[in-house]
Amino acid sequence: MDSMTFSTTKNTNFKCRYTQAPATKPAKMKDTILEHYHRHFDGHPILVVAPGRINIIGEHTDYNEGFVLPAAIDKCLHFALANSGEEQSTICAAGYGETVRFSANTPQNELPVWARYIHAIFAELTERGHTPRGIQGVFGGDIPIGAGLSSSAALCCGFVFGIAALQQLDFSRVEMAHIGQAAEHRTGLNCGLMDQYAVLFGKKDQVLYLDCRSLQYRYAPLRYPGHSWVLINSNVKHQLAAAPGYNDRRESCEKVVAAVRQNGVAAHSLRDVRAEALEAVRKKITTVEYQRAAYVLEENARVVQMVEALKNGNIQTAGNLLFQSHEGLRHQYEVTIPELDLLVKLARKDPAILGARQIGGGFGGCTLNLVKKEEVAACMARILLAYREETGIAAEFFPVKIEDGVHLAAPS
Ligand code: GLA
Repeated sequence: MDSMTFSTTKNTNFKCRYTQAPATKPAKMKDTILEHYHRHFDGHPILVVAPGRINIIGEHTDYNEGFVLPAAIDKCLHFALANSGEEQSTICAAGYGETVRFSANTPQNELPVWARYIHAIFAELTERGHTPRGIQGVFGGDIPIGAGLSSSAALCCGFVFGIAALQQLDFSRVEMAHIGQAAEHRTGLNCGLMDQYAVLFGKKDQVLYLDCRSLQYRYAPLRYPGHSWVLINSNVKHQLAAAPGYNDRRESCEKVVAAVRQNGVAAHSLRDVRAEALEAVRKKITTVEYQRAAYVLEENARVVQMVEALKNGNIQTAGNLLFQSHEGLRHQYEVTIPELDLLVKLARKDPAILGARQIGGGFGGCTLNLVKKEEVAACMARILLAYREETGIAAEFFPVKIEDGVHLAAPS
């Protein structure tokens, strides 16, 4: 991992060490995966690139049929895949140094976590009436695991895309998104569709304004002149599928919808619930359920406001919405952790940062920061130093680059 000595602004005459996440060149990563493939297997594989994602705003709104504003980023997984010519699949996860051989009959719990996702895709394809044959190949990349950047959606969607190309399965990207989501459900996370849509429909330099009810979307440019979007990885990893926190939140939302319905209001999801309808059932639900539902209603409204703010170049509003979103995630939805709260607190105090919030499912991972461009390096140095002093953890930052969604790559 690169780390470099950096002096901050002219006014602060201290030097500090901070870590900028190393940017691996995509072509180099592709070559590494390809070399890896040829060390293990014969034949000519196809190459697939599947990005991770950020989400500007709209957290935990997707499974409530609300709005989200994600984008695919330049951190990605590369796959080199071919048909294995047999029922068994042999997949190598370069980053873990593990190779696993399995078939549909292999019990999921005998596999390492990463292989469970691939196994789940085979199971899902079979349940949908296909007869997928075995695959051999290698994958790896630079999406930090457990950082809220959807490495699992990249794995699932990249693999579905690859197997579809190799076995002439004529799936649309919408179908691939649903298969990817179903694979996550099979591994234990009752997620929405935001991650899969971002990974599959991402477009260079654009965010995806997605209505998770109709699944209609449009693209919007994500640019404020003179400002940058920067991720800070707290380096506290989450394991969403392994812990109950995420699914538990989703259940709370569903309970509130049921209570609203019992009260005579036609509601399919929290998207249909107005603030008055929520107030009307307040005594019938727990305080925790009330707070969670209130958060979702407010966060959904914030996505709409953020889209307006982006369109009008209203950067102060955009920054405030980020801070408000974080407060909601912290106090109402209760999915933040002290380290992420600290990063946002430091961001609030920093004159170069207009807004910041935790992104993704929560319980660890990254904050997304809207930062004055000229001051990115100095301000990150300040924040990472203070974070390290308080937590003992070395965080890292990387400026966001928005890229295309899943695609085939040509061999170099
Ligand atoms: C995870 C899930 C998504 C979404 C986010 C929170 O990333 O996979 O479906 O719910 O958390 O917004």
